[in-house]
Amino acid sequence: MDGQELYERVDDHLEGLFGPPDPDLVAIQARADEAGLPAIAVSPATGRLLQVLARSCGARRVLEVGTLAGYSTTWLARALPDDGRVVTLEFDPHHAEVARRNLDAAGVGPRVEIRVGPASDSLRALTEEGAELFDLVFIDADKAPYAAYLEASLALSHPGTVIVADNVVRRGKVALGPSDDEAVTGVQRFTERVARDPRVTASFVQTVGAKGHDGLCIAVVR
Ligand code: SAH
Ligand code: DHB
Ligand code: MG
Repeated sequence: MDGQELYERVDDHLEGLFGPPDPDLVAIQARADEAGLPAIAVSPATGRLLQVLARSCGARRVLEVGTLAGYSTTWLARALPDDGRVVTLEFDPHHAEVARRNLDAAGVGPRVEIRVGPASDSLRALTEEGAELFDLVFIDADKAPYAAYLEASLALSHPGTVIVADNVVRRGKVALGPSDDEAVTGVQRFTERVARDPRVTASFVQTVGAKGHDGLCIAVVR
């Protein structure tokens, strides 16, 4: 058994301990596949981790950058109290449409607002509107502007806000020096910034399993 096979075996084993998969979450992935969306949603284990983090910080308001089909959105929305709200930002109107259907079908529609358009515009609009600050931010859209998304997230955060960023390892490419892939350089810039930013306490978690070798940054605003 090679490494990857073993990692997937462990993923399946641990996931199995939680009981049968949630039919709403399975249906979300099925509808995403059917609609031809890329299979790049977070793993179930990461979905669970997002829930744990949201509950740990008593999150009522969540900001998500990158909706896709609403898979991670649903994990997050389900971690919130009845009056909780997720604002999720999505560039692609087709993705947003699939997500809207998925969120409604999963019963979390009323607590999720999807803002369609470039995330940088939506983030600026939220700040200009004086939106109520967020308790947890999940950054998971295009990788090149990750550092800008961090900055915008900080403007919408309060002390104690948890900021999570997906895909900060990219199969190890972040550690292999300069890259001509702007997704890699974007994430490199993000990690360099977050590691030294005095406004946050941050750490990194490498992940393996069904989604391959990648990682998460988890930070909390001081
Ligand atoms: N968080 C989702 C996966 C998001 S995939 C989950 O785990 O279920 C990344 C998403 O970001 C894609 O749907 C893509 O269309 C969107 N995206 C890419 N560039 C964007 C941008 N500039 N602004 C907003 N969304 C963007
Ligand atoms: C890609 C994006 C993601 O958010 C992810 O989790 C995996 C892959 C990508 O654009 O390739
Ligand atoms: Mg991702």
